[in-house]
Amino acid sequence: MCGIVGYIGNGSAKEIIIDGLKKLEYRGYDSAGIALYIDGEVQVRKCTGRISNLELAAADPEYDSHIGIGHTRWATHGAPTDVNAHPHSNTEGTVAVVHNGIIENYAELKQWLSKEHGIRFVSETDTEVIAHLIGIYYDGDLTDAVFRAVDMMRGSYAIGVVCSHEPDKLVAVRKDSPLIAGIGKGCNFIASDIPALLKHVREIYLIENNETVVLTKDHITIYNQNREEVKRDVFHVTWDAASAEKEGYEHFMLKEIYDQPKAIEETLNRRLLPDGRIRLDGINLTREDIENFSRVYIVACGTAYHAGLIGKYAIEKFAQIPVEVDVASEFRYREPFVDDRTLFIAISQSGETLDTLAALREAKARGARVLSVVNVVGSSVARESDDVFYTWAGPEIAVASTKAYTTQLISMYLLALHMGSEKGCLTPEQRNELTAELMGLPAKISQILKLDAEIEAIAKQLYMKTQVFFIGRGTDCAVSYEGSLKLKEISYINSFAVAAGELKHGTIALVEQDTLVVALATQGKLFKKMLSNIQEVKARGAYVVAVAQESCKQLEAHADCVIYIPDCRDEFTPIPAVVPLQFFAYHVARFRGCDIDKPKNLAKSVTVE
Ligand code: G6P
Repeated sequence: MCGIVGYIGNGSAKEIIIDGLKKLEYRGYDSAGIALYIDGEVQVRKCTGRISNLELAAADPEYDSHIGIGHTRWATHGAPTDVNAHPHSNTEGTVAVVHNGIIENYAELKQWLSKEHGIRFVSETDTEVIAHLIGIYYDGDLTDAVFRAVDMMRGSYAIGVVCSHEPDKLVAVRKDSPLIAGIGKGCNFIASDIPALLKHVREIYLIENNETVVLTKDHITIYNQNREEVKRDVFHVTWDAASAEKEGYEHFMLKEIYDQPKAIEETLNRRLLPDGRIRLDGINLTREDIENFSRVYIVACGTAYHAGLIGKYAIEKFAQIPVEVDVASEFRYREPFVDDRTLFIAISQSGETLDTLAALREAKARGARVLSVVNVVGSSVARESDDVFYTWAGPEIAVASTKAYTTQLISMYLLALHMGSEKGCLTPEQRNELTAELMGLPAKISQILKLDAEIEAIAKQLYMKTQVFFIGRGTDCAVSYEGSLKLKEISYINSFAVAAGELKHGTIALVEQDTLVVALATQGKLFKKMLSNIQEVKARGAYVVAVAQESCKQLEAHADCVIYIPDCRDEFTPIPAVVPLQFFAYHVARFRGCDIDKPKNLAKSVTVE
């Protein structure tokens, strides 16, 4: 939530910052702002709406500099207004601050600043207190003032600060919100995430919690909480700049749907040896560890939670260990049975989702072994885990997750197969057969991508529906949840997923003439039962779009329309089956004229509770 970018060098700070903010718009996009040092002053421009509005507000050519900070916001404290947009300044306007996160004690600080220092606040934000704190502590040394301000702050923050008295210095701090520093030649950068900097640098420092980073155009110095300088290895980014661009696609979401065969191949190739064995880099689970686990908890939010539901099927089936799946915001407030025989798996694309991170910490404190399945390298969830399984999907920019989800599924399958074969639940032959099937998935997904136009035609016919139900059994039920979430996230249609067997316990009361029901029917052993459920909704007038395996033609007599995926082992159909649902959501949203990559009220990285 919220994205920050900072630059110091000889180039156009305005251009570099605004371009970087555009790459971070997925983090929040209700308002944006920039602060540049110009002629002895820090000049701020900010406004509601997208970065394109900010571009207009900052269009005059004289408004530019060699140093500045910028922000794209997802409102937490205070409505998205021009005044509440970042950067925020102190009363004299000498300090400007951008912030991602929440200052939990801001109300106390605000009261103290008003009472003791007579400060009048102009915005409703928590961030404004940071600017005033730095302002009152400033005594000729910006770094010192930032340290003193941070000592007073509780909560989560990544902040960037500039000061008119020190135009050759940019200071940033990280606690529980992501922050990286980009190492340029004669210029340096800060940002919330790598895509913002890809155009300029490939070498970065991953800033750790409670660290302060001081940038001049030629140096980057990192300090710990005790103000001691710390050394950091340089992290080399392997993506090219194009991987964070649309590459001719109308939307990032569409591009990312099309990226899936390649992304899945990457996830697999790094782990599968030619002889069928699985080598999990970054994971040090021994056979003894695996045999010792009495239970597994999988905890995540949103789409990643849906990947966890499939993970449960896979681990229980292949490794025969009981698994519980929970949404992170619920897990942390329960009394879960976690001990040192528990494997806790956190799944997160961003690795920064606060609820997931907090659940992970809770499990760790209770003695669990913590393994995470994460896309963003070096993110908080990854860093706080004992073992990390990177999904290697590349940057995912659209808010609605697609390729991160399918690579999360692949990761869960690989993990389950690895655990199963280590435990002896699978013979090497069985494992090899299963891994060979996984290797065939990228080609099958490529085949499904050819259905784009067919699904677009179905969407054209149905996009005016106001209500949709998704139904399925077994793994199809979990895929239904994901299909339904995709549709609601980006098209704003009231969509609901339910286990097909549960329909008769309530939801079927809502099915009437022409109600749209999307039925997943890819599971051979559950097919007959699913067929009965389809007949039940048809009998009440529903319009049924079904998803089935290619060789299963029986549905044609019952559903109004059938989308076929290539034949595949039942265990692995969640991966191909979700792709038509992604296309469906995408095209429905497009016909409805929705802002697909940046749906209203949502953000890709949710760093608040
Ligand atoms: C937000 C996003 C979802 C995502 C969820 C979890 O709600 O809009 O697309 O699935 O967060 O994010 P994570 O980064 O932890 O996977």
